[in-house]
Amino acid sequence: MSAPKKLYIKTYGCQMNVYDSERMAEALGGKGYVETQSPDDADMILLNTCHIREKAAEKVYSELGRFKGLKAEKPDLKIGVAGCVAQAEGEEIMRRQPLVDLVVGPQSYHRLPAMDDAIQTGAKALDTDFPEDDKFDTLKARSKAKRGPTAFLTVQEGCDKFCAFCVVPYTRGAEVSRPADRILREAQELVDAGVREITLLGQNVNAYHGHDQGLAGLIWQLDKIDGLERIRFTTSHPNDMDDALIEAHGTCGKLMPYLHLPVQSGSDRILKAMNRKHTADSYIRLIERIRAARPDILLSGDFIVGFPGETDEDFEDTMQLVRDVHYGQAYSFKYSTRPGTPAAEKPQLPEDVMNDRLQRLQALLREQQRATQASMVGREVKVLFEKPGREVGQMIGKSEYLHAVYADAPAEVVGQVRAVKVVEDSPNSLKGRLIT
Ligand code: 5AD
Ligand code: SF4
Repeated sequence: MSAPKKLYIKTYGCQMNVYDSERMAEALGGKGYVETQSPDDADMILLNTCHIREKAAEKVYSELGRFKGLKAEKPDLKIGVAGCVAQAEGEEIMRRQPLVDLVVGPQSYHRLPAMDDAIQTGAKALDTDFPEDDKFDTLKARSKAKRGPTAFLTVQEGCDKFCAFCVVPYTRGAEVSRPADRILREAQELVDAGVREITLLGQNVNAYHGHDQGLAGLIWQLDKIDGLERIRFTTSHPNDMDDALIEAHGTCGKLMPYLHLPVQSGSDRILKAMNRKHTADSYIRLIERIRAARPDILLSGDFIVGFPGETDEDFEDTMQLVRDVHYGQAYSFKYSTRPGTPAAEKPQLPEDVMNDRLQRLQALLREQQRATQASMVGREVKVLFEKPGREVGQMIGKSEYLHAVYADAPAEVVGQVRAVKVVEDSPNSLKGRLIT
């Protein structure tokens, strides 16, 4: 028997790419590939790429350039590009970097095994269709191998919102929800393999419509799975937070008190130009309702500074919204022009203005994150332990609020939810003591 072929996948960008990489590895596993952690001994290298900002896309080309030497040493090595850069740039990738054998968009991963057959004959393979057939229907069932306590599960893909800055509606396509029964089956398979926490994924996850009661309906069904202890979901749009989902945050014990709810800007003028279809005020009122349902919920968000036309006053509105909401954690970005999106046509702001605003916003968000971390000291949290920490005898996991928490604990705590008293805070983690 010949040795199994080795597959190296490098994942960029969002959590959905992490999930997709797992599914691609499983699909190619059916063809005898096993995963390796190093590109040097791989027979196939797959880059699962991100196109959300310019920098993310450029990284892919510089990484591809680095594989030139490897391919020269090993002519049979196959190199593939998957993900949103593949979808957005298609054939252009092979023109710009001829060592690429395969380009596959996010909706075509079920076709990877057949594409592998083609490239093994020396041909090039390209598939960036939005096929009628559902890739999840055709992909293999989840592997039964034992796995870690946390997993991602894609329930919804694509976006119909068309925010003026965003490539997602073009790279991931129109909104599609997976049927609830398939998701429940997959969740059960994950739990059988040792998973205790599932994060439901979708570019617009709260627009999920594969269940007649929306995402909340799906969450309540997942809540019934024995052995599943925690449910999370990401990423949501403010306009799709329906009453049932808000209420579930107060009533569903397995739904964790953490919500990522991007607002992007605090200026109504800019929100309008962004085509967000909500105002700063409607967002703040929504946050109030969510906090009424679950007062201790930790809020996270996304912000863009320097969107075309943003004035100092608009930016101050964003700073004010951040002060009003108070985030436990958040992401912020300089606006990045994405070809093909409506905002790309507009005059861009000077780089130094964007840099200055980003620094000020990030300083404020950092301050709020520090204050949130500090407020945890002395409190009891429930930690789902995931793996050994950096020091001997230490284990690390996540609190219900998604804080990274480490504590001295025996190895057997991995996969268990344990009560922990927080004794010390730092900017990105908490130190705790096992209570039970
Ligand atoms: N420029 C900067 N940030 C962007 N995002 C999306 N598109 C762009 C862009 N063109 C940010 C948004 C989104 C997050 C995933 O990335 O804040 O919520
Ligand atoms: Fe992009 Fe999110 Fe807007 Fe959809 S809702 S276009 S994914 S930023």
